[in-house]
Amino acid sequence: MSELVRAPSPHDLHEVVVTVNGVTRSARVPARRLLSDLLRHDLRLTGTHVGCEHGVCGACTVLLEGEPVRSCLTFAVMVDGARITTVEGLAGPDGELGPVQRAFRECHGLQCGFCTPGFLLLATELLAHIPEPGDEEIADALGGNLCRCTGYVNIVRSVRRAAELTREQEPT
Ligand code: FES
Ligand code: FES
Repeated sequence: MSELVRAPSPHDLHEVVVTVNGVTRSARVPARRLLSDLLRHDLRLTGTHVGCEHGVCGACTVLLEGEPVRSCLTFAVMVDGARITTVEGLAGPDGELGPVQRAFRECHGLQCGFCTPGFLLLATELLAHIPEPGDEEIADALGGNLCRCTGYVNIVRSVRRAAELTREQEPT
């Protein structure tokens, strides 16, 4: 007689191993766990903010293999084995702010700060590809994220300043 095979349940747990900010982390999660929840609740990396929870605001943006993704639209099991950068990974080993973070502070690129992690990661990815972006390239890169406070002008100034600070700190 053939063995009965139990149908998969949505409550079954799946091992997910990711490298977050250079550190290998793992968790056992149900198939429907979102990446944003994996980061915030399972791995306790609460710097990733969740706003709309359906892909509109961009507050939950993280870098997946160096490219921005909305973590509220990504299942955790889809990123098994991947490299992820969250806002916590932008600071140095002793907690000193990275150049993009310093630029946002210096240029008042944030007010309430809810949207800021997403903008910081978009700016980081932009500068990795285009070290001296023009205003149009900055607008294109950041245009999918929403900020209810700043009016965006200081965010764009911050990215321009971040480009300068990033170039200054790079070895010549
Ligand atoms: S919380 Fe993910 S896009 Fe708004
Ligand atoms: S600083 Fe408040 S939403 Fe952007």
